[in-house]
Amino acid sequence: MSIYQPPADWFKAPKGGERVWIGLALTWCMVMSVAMPYWHFYGKQNSTGESYRVTPAEYAQRVGKFIQTNKVGEMNGMPVVEPAPGGDAYLQAQMWLWMPILKLRKGQTYRLHISSLDLQHGFSLLPMNMNFQVLPGYDHVLTLTPTSSGEFSIVCNEFCGIGHHMMTGRIIVED
Ligand code: CUA
Repeated sequence: MSIYQPPADWFKAPKGGERVWIGLALTWCMVMSVAMPYWHFYGKQNSTGESYRVTPAEYAQRVGKFIQTNKVGEMNGMPVVEPAPGGDAYLQAQMWLWMPILKLRKGQTYRLHISSLDLQHGFSLLPMNMNFQVLPGYDHVLTLTPTSSGEFSIVCNEFCGIGHHMMTGRIIVED
């Protein structure tokens, strides 16, 4: 309770310029409220929200198997792996590398699994600036359809220790 009571007729309905500003702010609030669900369904860079529990050891095993069956080459000691179009691709994050290098085909849709073996990392695909959290214990599945060919970089955008700035990976997309 305040010390002084305001007069009974303290409220003055907004008018003129104030009304206009309140109206504009309210309209923008409505637009943004509609935009959120709209982008959830029609945006092209959304997570499917699909994730599964997996232990780091199990995940490492799946990635190992994926590499073994789909390996097509090597770059600086890192396996280059080409998953079947329409199939599952696996990416493993750990201090401080992304494994393997993925080779994908333009226009094909993949189920890209991402998980971490140790702590939290951040998957950031450049230059399109797609960003997703990578957590140990969760197999996060993204539906990915490359729309342009070329080489794309993956950087880690979650601080993960002394080698964080060197944690880069690569996705190669061919026509
Ligand atoms: Cu991994 Cu920063």
